[in-house]
Amino acid sequence: MSSKEYNIVSLIRKKRDTQQLNRDEISYLIEEYTKDEVPDYQMSAFLMASYLNGLDEDEASALTHSMLHSGRVLDLSDIPGKKVDKHSTGGVGDKLSLILAPIVASCGVPVPMISGRGLGHTGGTLDKMESVPGFNVDMTLERYQQILAKCNMVMAGQTEEVAPADKRLYALRDVTATVESIPLIAGSIMSKKLAEGIDALVLDVKFGSGAFMKTREEAEELAEALVAIGEDFGKETVAYLTNMNQPLGYKIGNWLEMEESMDGLQGKGPDDVMEVTHMLAGTMIMLGGKVSSVKEGIKMSHQAIENGQAFEKWLELTEEQGGDTSVLKDFSAYDHTEYSFEFSAPQSGYISEIDAYSIGMGSLELGAGRKKKDDIIDPAAGIELKKKIGDQVKKGETLAVGFTNNKQLTETAINKLENAFTIREQSVEKLKMITHRVDKNGVHEM
Ligand code: URA
Repeated sequence: MSSKEYNIVSLIRKKRDTQQLNRDEISYLIEEYTKDEVPDYQMSAFLMASYLNGLDEDEASALTHSMLHSGRVLDLSDIPGKKVDKHSTGGVGDKLSLILAPIVASCGVPVPMISGRGLGHTGGTLDKMESVPGFNVDMTLERYQQILAKCNMVMAGQTEEVAPADKRLYALRDVTATVESIPLIAGSIMSKKLAEGIDALVLDVKFGSGAFMKTREEAEELAEALVAIGEDFGKETVAYLTNMNQPLGYKIGNWLEMEESMDGLQGKGPDDVMEVTHMLAGTMIMLGGKVSSVKEGIKMSHQAIENGQAFEKWLELTEEQGGDTSVLKDFSAYDHTEYSFEFSAPQSGYISEIDAYSIGMGSLELGAGRKKKDDIIDPAAGIELKKKIGDQVKKGETLAVGFTNNKQLTETAINKLENAFTIREQSVEKLKMITHRVDKNGVHEM
């Protein structure tokens, strides 16, 4: 709670004139905004001043604190063990949460996870879970705690009670061109994650054509801001910078990604997906105190797949949250799309680029994503890649297969696919998936 009253115009003026606001001033502004005592036009001016002039580490931490305490902050101290979550800044084909959460939970580290829905070309974990018939992601925070206590993991959607100030501010940023500010993004992400009652956090900060941050440098800056906030709140926070210059794995689309995740949990996952999964899971296991190094954590993560415990854990959670596990064990029991089409290579050579953004948009066009907030998605729609960067192809060979229930959507999706693949005559190296680790000691090349 702020201890004094302030004049809102003078706070906006201070930020406009590049002066630092103290914690009390930031709390006052956010509290008054949440109570509807500050109108959107004044908050918009403050956001634009912050976007243009930045917020330093103390200001970003104060903003996070105020947004976090605008709602309920869960106390999970009744559940034994260090609670560890993972957050990804979002990408195309990013199904890692579905694989790593059961791995980590089955290794004895509780995983409380509040996830989001798809945004533009990027998919959302909740939409993927809901592609399984009956899988329920909407629940009260009481039920959330109950599931966590029973299964050692829970995966749910955000409720109105979690960081409500962030929800309102995010909506305002969206319509005032102030989303793309590193301190505002960092504060927004961390206020929601800290409200989950976690003890430690692993972040997957993606860069490249399919990511929010297009360059590695921007991703590094965001990772540093996220780690600084996490550590300021006394939570051990480790971030990895990972490559999103082609989709992760082969399958893009809600149910398709569920299939690939089930393959991953049964030891049949694609190399790029599993490399990042094991690094993030291994780090979570280490932060959860089960081992003393990431290397040992990675070993434990592999074992959880090999001995079947991670897949079992996923089936247990699915059942607890009302989902039909039979389709997870036998994909042929799923209601797949009515139509599919193949997209073939226009020339022979080596795949040198797969523009993740175009693939994400192609999948969205087929029905897997939303163009407007209220659009209904088609859980079975999406794209399956048959080739990845570095692979050799012959003219006419299939590069991707599209799936949809609405045949009329195929033409626009094909247009997106036409822009997605670049084929060269010379051979091409595979992408390095994890380039850096960012922690309280700085940025380390991997
Ligand atoms: N995701 C969030 O939660 N907040 C942002 O500001 C951007 C991405």
